[in-house]
Amino acid sequence: MSTQVMELETLPIVIEKVKESKLSKIDFNNLPFGKTFSDHMMVCEYYDGKWQSAKIQPYGNISISPACNVFHYGQAVFEGMKAYYKEDESGIVLFRPEENWKRLNKSAVRMSMPQVPEELFMEGIKQLIELDKAFIPAQEGSSLYIRPFIIGTEPFIGVRTSDRYLFCIIIGPTGPYYGEPISVLVYDTFIRATKGGYGNAKAAGNYAGTLYPVEQAKKLGYKDVLWLDGEHKKYANEVGTMNIFFVIDGKLITPETDGTILEGITRDSVIKIAKDFGYTVEERPISIDEIVDAHDSGKLTEMFGVGTAAVINPINRFGYKGKDYLLDENKFVIAQQLKKELVSIQKCIIEDRFGWVVEV
Ligand code: COI
Repeated sequence: MSTQVMELETLPIVIEKVKESKLSKIDFNNLPFGKTFSDHMMVCEYYDGKWQSAKIQPYGNISISPACNVFHYGQAVFEGMKAYYKEDESGIVLFRPEENWKRLNKSAVRMSMPQVPEELFMEGIKQLIELDKAFIPAQEGSSLYIRPFIIGTEPFIGVRTSDRYLFCIIIGPTGPYYGEPISVLVYDTFIRATKGGYGNAKAAGNYAGTLYPVEQAKKLGYKDVLWLDGEHKKYANEVGTMNIFFVIDGKLITPETDGTILEGITRDSVIKIAKDFGYTVEERPISIDEIVDAHDSGKLTEMFGVGTAAVINPINRFGYKGKDYLLDENKFVIAQQLKKELVSIQKCIIEDRFGWVVEV
């Protein structure tokens, strides 16, 4: 194995390369979300009150104590990002990576974890992508998914903040998260977040708590869940792994960021693009009664989720209190227009008038 050291201002990143790449074993025409990983990953440990030296090493299992906080109390936060080849293949780009860095640290603060320096986050991602750039897929709808995460690793099973952490970045070629329009069940029983909780943090526990209700929804024939707020079980919150948008009377409506929903970077980008196109965007509470009424009167013309992994995904059916409501995704004109614009900016097909794209 060859070893080299990239000097950072604050931390060196030691690079240990694989002996043999697994690139030739990957079927780029069949890429389910999140199952394929590249040759390398970045790891950096935190102890004695600071981040220690980082290492890019062959992708593989890590060895940590079974007593680590993350296994028992779930001290874990993560991010989701994507890298693309520019359309003209002149370079590799990231989409608004600074926002992901800021949000990772915001989530870390909420979960009582140390923040990651910007240089470690950015350089870790860039060095890793540079090394494994052959894993970036060219197929339409595919990209290189980037998953930075931090976990509590102190071997101690008392309930308190860990004093050791691991910051890790794994990357891999991936297809779209859902890849088709989805149906969702609207629960008036289970919730994912409530005020004063940590629904706006990208914390592992926010997702763990959704698994059982989602499995129940699948048994009833739905792909995922449209969550309502925790207090009244009345207002739309998030949908599946995404932020939710409705088009009613030609206006876009999405729940406001009230601390219970993820402050999605795709959500923010979609709002900015939509406003730039001249659409009215309302960030406000939207009740399930308003959604049902708008559906029944024909004013609800589109319903879609947005997120890094899923991009913009149509919802063509929702079930509430034993009744199903259908929407025709072929008529989702605004969702299609927004998706085309977003993807065109991300892949540098059109001018990046918002200054969102960053070269690797
Ligand atoms: C993303 O959209 O990138 C996310 O992080 C959601 C994830 C749980 C798939």
